Amino acid sequence: MDFLELAVNRYSERFFDTRPVEQEKLDRILEAGRVVPTACNYQPQRFYVIRSEEGLEKLKSVTAFHYNVPLMILVCYDLRTVWRNPGDRYYRNYNSGEQDASIAATTMMYEAEELGVHTIWIRGFDSKTVADTYGLPEYMIPVMMLGLGYPNEKAHANAWHYKRNPIEEFVTEL
Ligand SMILES: Cc1cc2nc3c(=O)[nH]c(=O)nc-3n(C[C@H](O)[C@H](O)[C@H](O)COP(=O)(O)O)c2cc1C
Repeated sequence: MDFLELAVNRYSERFFDTRPVEQEKLDRILEAGRVVPTACNYQPQRFYVIRSEEGLEKLKSVTAFHYNVPLMILVCYDLRTVWRNPGDRYYRNYNSGEQDASIAATTMMYEAEELGVHTIWIRGFDSKTVADTYGLPEYMIPVMMLGLGYPNEKAHANAWHYKRNPIEEFVTEL
């Protein structure tokens, strides 16, 4: 499948089977998140793999959007290594952590898709609750969670997946 076809076909999965994701596939997915470009190549992205019974159970107390995933990757960035631009006049104390973590998350999402593993991008959580629940150090900033697994018999793309605005709304030639 070519990349654009993969991107069009990917949808947010919300119906997961209990079948675990194989270690070899998880390794490839994490590798995809490792090799991404980051600001100044500082590589502040950090991945917490949540798949133990205890870790997955805790998910239920940090997000309503856990969808009983068998595997979750909590994507964070490390404030100690992130690139900063204190001189940015739009964003006070700008750092590139959200961008660095998001490019890693996005790349992992598409690698998973390529391997036949479905995903859901989750941001519906309180960062402090996540940090406290999983005992993250204070310099570790949660950005998103990527739920991964195989689809169950109810799996389908919801209506939002088919609602995309026309290209003219996104593109302006200057
Ligand atoms: C930044 C971001 C945050 C999201 N947070 C959630 C979430 O917390 N819960 C959820 O069910 N879906 C979440 N989604 C999935 C979006 O709702 C979904 O990508 C969008 O509706 C388009 O549907 P599709 O991914 O099936 O094409 C999130 C997606 C993004 C990119």
